[in-house]
Amino acid sequence: MAAIESVMHEGRVFEPAASIVETAAVSGMPAYHALVAEAERDYEGFWGRLARTALDWQTPFTKVLDESRAPFYTWFEDGRLNASYNCLDRHVENGLGEKAALIFEADDGTVTRVSYRDLLARVSRLANALKARGVKTGDRVVIYMPMSVEGVVAMQACARIGATHSVVFGGFSSKSLNERIVDAGAVAVITADEQMRGGRALPLKSIVDEALAAGGTETVTSVIVYRRTGGDVHWDAARDLWLHELVATQSDVCAPEWVGAEHPLFILYTSGSTGKPKGVQHSTGGYLLWAQQTMQWTFDIKSEDVFWCTADIGWITGHTYICYGPTAAGATQVIFEGVPTYPDAGRFWKMIEQHRVTVFYTAPTAIRSLIKAADANPEVHPRRYDLSSLRVIGTVGEPINPAAWMWYHDEVGGGRCPIVDTFWQTETGGHVISPLPGATPLVPGSCTLPLPGILAAVVDETGQEVPNGQGGILVIKRPWPAMLRTVWRDPERFRKSYFPEELGGTLYLAGDGAVRDATTGNFTIMGRIDDVLNISGHRMGTMEIESALVSHPLVAEAAVVGRPDDTTGEAIVAFVVLKRTRPTGDEGRAIANELRAWVAKQIGPIAKPRDLRFGDNLPKTRSGKIMRRLLRGLAKGETAPQDTSTLENPAILEQLGEAL
Ligand code: PRX
Repeated sequence: MAAIESVMHEGRVFEPAASIVETAAVSGMPAYHALVAEAERDYEGFWGRLARTALDWQTPFTKVLDESRAPFYTWFEDGRLNASYNCLDRHVENGLGEKAALIFEADDGTVTRVSYRDLLARVSRLANALKARGVKTGDRVVIYMPMSVEGVVAMQACARIGATHSVVFGGFSSKSLNERIVDAGAVAVITADEQMRGGRALPLKSIVDEALAAGGTETVTSVIVYRRTGGDVHWDAARDLWLHELVATQSDVCAPEWVGAEHPLFILYTSGSTGKPKGVQHSTGGYLLWAQQTMQWTFDIKSEDVFWCTADIGWITGHTYICYGPTAAGATQVIFEGVPTYPDAGRFWKMIEQHRVTVFYTAPTAIRSLIKAADANPEVHPRRYDLSSLRVIGTVGEPINPAAWMWYHDEVGGGRCPIVDTFWQTETGGHVISPLPGATPLVPGSCTLPLPGILAAVVDETGQEVPNGQGGILVIKRPWPAMLRTVWRDPERFRKSYFPEELGGTLYLAGDGAVRDATTGNFTIMGRIDDVLNISGHRMGTMEIESALVSHPLVAEAAVVGRPDDTTGEAIVAFVVLKRTRPTGDEGRAIANELRAWVAKQIGPIAKPRDLRFGDNLPKTRSGKIMRRLLRGLAKGETAPQDTSTLENPAILEQLGEAL
């Protein structure tokens, strides 16, 4: 709460520089207010105008929004288009064929440039190859790839033929991968032999092999493997194919498959408050419209810009602001295989200098860890590099504390670049609350105001709006084109999770707490209100980690909570009861390490608990409910909990408070 308090008392305001205002797509606050007013006056007219301007339609839509099956809203439903056509062909047709679409920098620093014409040819070859393997419109394809040109090509190739992709982050375990392949009912998996990160080769293909051996994956008939490192892989001739061999014989022309605007472009699994991740399903038309529109509004993207989003394609940020947004906007972007600290923590700054990056988008966690590194070693301080090309800088994924904001502003942005602190989610498809660089006065730590057309509000538990200055639940009052359409194969979960009856059934529940400033109306996000943690900007459900822990033969019971962390935002703390006596000392540490490794194997290294505490029991009420409030206090290091009167077994707190 300390961080939130400091944001709420933040008095500094940074007005955009006149030079940015002059040329911005949304120039000055009156222009912002005019767009907001247009959306309020004629909601459908507003969205219809944007969709017709931003996208090329093969068949124009005649109706903008259909609310008759709410909350299963549809947008532009009778319009037909193709996402890959909008990201590639139309730019080539408009004379941008030789423009660099991707500047790929490998882990070892090797740089590859891919023009729009070349990217289109590569996408078309893989699209043809997928078709030759029998992949059809509506089939699901799982992509388990490193950051690479091929990763983007794989996503776009699916879009080209109307196959729905589901990208799984390369850090997820074989078990997580298996669950996603099974749930999606994938017919093909596209992967690589290995991935390179920080000078190390990490396996991918062998994890796919394990995932497919785990069963339930009979639908998969092709595994297409991009050869990244040439490392040894096991080969199953019945289903495995080298990507380079497969595309070698294919034509570089592939007619795009025109699909309805509501056709599912992709499914992306994300954590919720149950143990099972949900397959967030996005549309083609509404999603792509917002991917492109926010490139223009939030990043003020111009034809000469060099954009760089440091996310991985395994997350929504990599979908919207690597694969689809920058390409739909016809921009040049940098994509990066490696990690910010290799070969040293000056890597980001060196890349910005070398590629003359103008718009840079990263996560608060990365900024905080690079601040630490720069404090420890002046050689990697951003001041050592020429960052004068930067124009707009942004953050995403978690709240940014004002101290990190100021450092980013002064040391990276040279005091002249507006920071766009973009609030959004896997479910929202693109930014929903964010400053506009040429309009919005910035306040460190606040994501400021909703984008035009997004009716964000703060309500109480009954769905009533609360006055500004009072905290509450963040909701969006009307559907917007880029919102998720459903949870894959689980429409009831969609309705219950996002349009709960308690709030009246019509408000979109984001799952975050928020407060609006009493005078400016600026939003400050106060973190998740459900059992979802945010570790380094990555979402992780406490129940998922708990079920991984209790599946270990030694574990009887487990409860997982988050504790604030200076670098990663939150850190995972697990309280564990074993089926045997409570271990202490070296033995306790050894078992804790075994359990950490177990969670990494079950879910992925990002889910590993930072701290593990053992107890003979967990603190419970007399009715047997685990008291998570107390556990959160213990995780933070608080010793004497305030009120333990309802607690069945107060003595347990002392045990659980002991670090190993
Ligand atoms: O809690 C909010 C936080 O990240 C959550 C969404 O996570 P995910 O679906 O993985 O998407 C992350 C990338 C868009 C939100 O519910 N969050 C995201 N952006 C911000 C944020 N919290 C505060 N400020 C932000 N700018």
